[in-house]
Amino acid sequence: MWWRSVALVLAMAAFGARAEVGDAEKGRELVAEMCARCHAWDPEYPWASIGSTPSFMWMARKLDFYRERILSVTSRPPHIAQRFDVSIEDLENILAYIETLKPAE
Ligand code: HEC
Repeated sequence: MWWRSVALVLAMAAFGARAEVGDAEKGRELVAEMCARCHAWDPEYPWASIGSTPSFMWMARKLDFYRERILSVTSRPPHIAQRFDVSIEDLENILAYIETLKPAE
């Protein structure tokens, strides 16, 4: 029946879209584009933050504290990222990238 294949395609599309949430590679691109001017984000350059801006490597070490703060950064004043075009999916991707910065234990 034709509607079965439509349902299957929709289910696969939904699954595909879900799988993209928390994509570290996309997060890395977003960070390089939007956050890098203030936050250190590349482990090769750990001190490249402006002023007292916390580095993303630091956040990676303190994820219990920072996970929620990363996901809510655009909804809490006065952080500048509120003025950027950043969706919750973008923040999930950024969080996925920051998770890759976690040092091996
Ligand atoms: C113009 C500089 C600037 C840019 C660009 C910037 N930040 Fe920040 N960020 C800061 C400063 C300064 C702080 C520390 C003060 C504060 O918490 O607002 C900070 C703090 C944070 C914190 C910790 C906030 C908290 O509640 O402790 C997170 C998470 C964060 N930034 C994420 C991001 C992300 C994600 C981006 C890119 C989408 C970004 N920032 C872009 C300057 C910037």
